Amino acid sequence: MQVHLFDSASQVGQAAAMLVGAQLLEKPNSVLGLATGSSPISTYQELIRLHCAGVIDFSSTITFNLDEYCRLPIEHPCSYHRFMKEQLFSHVNLRAENTHVPNGNAEDLSAECARYDQAIAKAGGIDLQLLGIGRNGHIGFNEPSDQFVYGCHVVRLTQSTIEANRRFFDSEADVPREAVSLGVGSIMNAKRVILIATGEDKAVAVRKAIQEDIDPATQASILRTHPNVLFLLDKAAAAKL
Ligand code: GLP
Repeated sequence: MQVHLFDSASQVGQAAAMLVGAQLLEKPNSVLGLATGSSPISTYQELIRLHCAGVIDFSSTITFNLDEYCRLPIEHPCSYHRFMKEQLFSHVNLRAENTHVPNGNAEDLSAECARYDQAIAKAGGIDLQLLGIGRNGHIGFNEPSDQFVYGCHVVRLTQSTIEANRRFFDSEADVPREAVSLGVGSIMNAKRVILIATGEDKAVAVRKAIQEDIDPATQASILRTHPNVLFLLDKAAAAKL
């Protein structure tokens, strides 16, 4: 495990984008695991800048997103399909057929979860997984629990996540109660993991993930057992280490 501290959130974004860029220079047809939320936005902005400057080419890159809300139309302003389109996909030369986000509107959600895990395996597994972290230590939508779930599954969101994500919706009642999420096993299978955490809201989760027991109550704590994981933190997120 490597932990890198930066003065600002924008430096964290630049560092993460440099690592993704280096990965794509070395292996243009990499399989990237992508995250949503505020944390990776500056990373995506820097990747777009590098792409527009002719440094990074996504034409053979494959992406799989971590998660998606259940029963939220993909064109809804808060869907992760829409987020990815607006924050990254429509600004770079990723091929639409090479980008994947779980279908939270599938009639049979367990079949969708199985299909998604199989699609990742068929693509050769994830080379580099970008992650944010929830205030409760979740990764993807793997919520605090008494166990780590291996594969893609349907998650019931905790009240703390509903409250944290309420800021994007008109009201708390509009936040979906369920989501499809990659499991912790699928995340741990990535060859390399980069977790981005910025801001004081993440300081407790970061301390629990990095310095306290490996415990499914803080799902991110399992990452410490990954052979190639980097935590990129700004000062505020690292304040309780
Ligand atoms: C969301 C996402 C996670 C994300 C986390 C943190 O609920 N499902 O993948 O890492 O919460 O979000 P943010 O970066 O906005 O704080």
